[in-house]
Amino acid sequence: MIYLVLAHPYPSQSRANRVLLDAVRDLPGLEVCSLYDRYPDFDIDVAAEQAALSRAQLVVWMHPLFWYSVPGLLKHWFDQVLSHGWAYGDGAAALHGKDCLWVASTGGTPQAYSAAGVHQRPFADFVPPIEETALFCGMNWLAPCILHGANEIDEPQLAAHARLLRDRLEQWLALQADAAGKAGQAP
Ligand SMILES: Cc1cc2nc3c(=O)[nH]c(=O)nc-3n(C[C@H](O)[C@H](O)[C@H](O)COP(=O)(O)O)c2cc1C
Repeated sequence: MIYLVLAHPYPSQSRANRVLLDAVRDLPGLEVCSLYDRYPDFDIDVAAEQAALSRAQLVVWMHPLFWYSVPGLLKHWFDQVLSHGWAYGDGAAALHGKDCLWVASTGGTPQAYSAAGVHQRPFADFVPPIEETALFCGMNWLAPCILHGANEIDEPQLAAHARLLRDRLEQWLALQADAAGKAGQAP
């Protein structure tokens, strides 16, 4: 029901994304694909990825921010998996109506993402390419879950953010269960 695509080139060296993933990996119906573990040679199994997406009602893209964008293998996954005639184009509706949650960690602090900060712009300025990728495929864009200052925050702050992410997914699952219950009721 939830397909979580993790794109961290060195999962074993991750601090932030590892804590975030550990906080949610036992949720019911969650399927995790660690892209760099599964496709170290970038040879993505497109049919398998599309099948996983077809099974899901929520797609999660989780990764550290690299050069204001997604790590290279996630970009390659977009290029390969979100294909014309399947994800977009005339009559293509494989992802229509599915929810999409962007979960990213940044080295930059909230202050760094401001006009006076080192990145010179608010973080919101860097969101549209990812958001439009989801929208172009007909997905519903959920409010992103962004962890800023990922290399500086202390353990309690990181744990609190991980809890927030888990709460978001639990709420999403509860809504789905509720909707399914209502759909199953006799008219
Ligand atoms: C190649 C590379 C590019 C990065 N680019 C950015 C960036 O554009 N903006 C930013 O805020 N942090 C950037 N960072 C910092 C990472 O986002 C940060 O180290 C990561 O989110 C920490 O997560 P982790 O503990 O799971 O590795 C970059 C790091 C690397 C290695």
